[in-house]
Amino acid sequence: MTTKVPFSYCEINFGLLKNSSLSSIISNDYKNSRIIVFADENTYDLCLEYLFESCPIINHADVVVFPLGEENKIIEVAHQILDALSNFKLKRNDLIINLGGGIVTDMGGFISSIYKRGIKFINIPTTLLGMVDASIGGKTGINLGSYKNQIGSFIHPISIYIDSFFLKSLPQNEIINGYAEIIKHALISDAKSWFDLSNKLEKNIQPDNKLILKSITYKTSIVERDPLEMGLRKILNFGHTFGHAIEGFFVDKMNVSHGFCVCLGICAESYLSFKRGNISKDEYLQIENAINRIIDFIPFDKEAINEIYELMKQDKKNKGDQVLSCLLIKIGECQYDKDISEAEVMDAMYHLNLLAGTN
Ligand code: GLY
Repeated sequence: MTTKVPFSYCEINFGLLKNSSLSSIISNDYKNSRIIVFADENTYDLCLEYLFESCPIINHADVVVFPLGEENKIIEVAHQILDALSNFKLKRNDLIINLGGGIVTDMGGFISSIYKRGIKFINIPTTLLGMVDASIGGKTGINLGSYKNQIGSFIHPISIYIDSFFLKSLPQNEIINGYAEIIKHALISDAKSWFDLSNKLEKNIQPDNKLILKSITYKTSIVERDPLEMGLRKILNFGHTFGHAIEGFFVDKMNVSHGFCVCLGICAESYLSFKRGNISKDEYLQIENAINRIIDFIPFDKEAINEIYELMKQDKKNKGDQVLSCLLIKIGECQYDKDISEAEVMDAMYHLNLLAGTN
């Protein structure tokens, strides 16, 4: 049996792929269609066979493989893939299946939304981060230089299949990557969820189906109320004003994961929430300590901090010259569009820097 998560924009199935509606959707609606699976080099090696075994009806699909890495989530690679689709003579009634983590579903969703003005697609997230966040909610996108997700669209897949079998082959740093978004969801949604989760966080933490389902359900409840991020949905960017700028800073320098940067961002934005008196010092320290148990903080020199601030000023969520961020108003509640000053950004970044000495 699979669990269906209530969501009005598309079907979300949680459970084994072989028991899901995937085969019947293909045989009923795409019997005579061409099917393309988008994979990356890892999911090509580790996940494709399981997909074909679980759903033999698609084992004739053509496979397009993305190069690994955030630095490839760019227009030039999108162009190459669009050329490949054109060479395959893909038509609007054909189907794309995105098999991978956030990079694959962001890029694959974006391509699906622009190729021939839109072609139907299905997301099969294979990472924890993809399962609890990136594959759900209709955001697609690619980067522009160091600026994250500057080109993109809002479009939902026809369905999303979440099968935790894929998590078995994930390295631990990828599990932590996904926990960054689970932490975010807990901190902004409810104090008890955060309290329970914070006690469990440790370097070897394993995925937990109940937590995955809870995170997905929370995310869909927010997207349901504000699908195009006109207001409320912005709270899902908690940790991402700093997180995206830090990730952008590293994109051409060193391989750091989105989740690692989001953990730093959650710490920085929680620190500012504490400095503004929204949460207590103990509440902040609980966040800092929990994050310190799952990642190793790294130092940032003055030049890096200045560069990160410059990137933050370009965040697509800003208005005018103000840097806007999410801040906690209490544990379990978050406000968006909070104007933060240069001095606050510097203070939070220097604080992160200090934490690097405490690993
Ligand atoms: N990842 C944040 C959102 O989907 O809105």
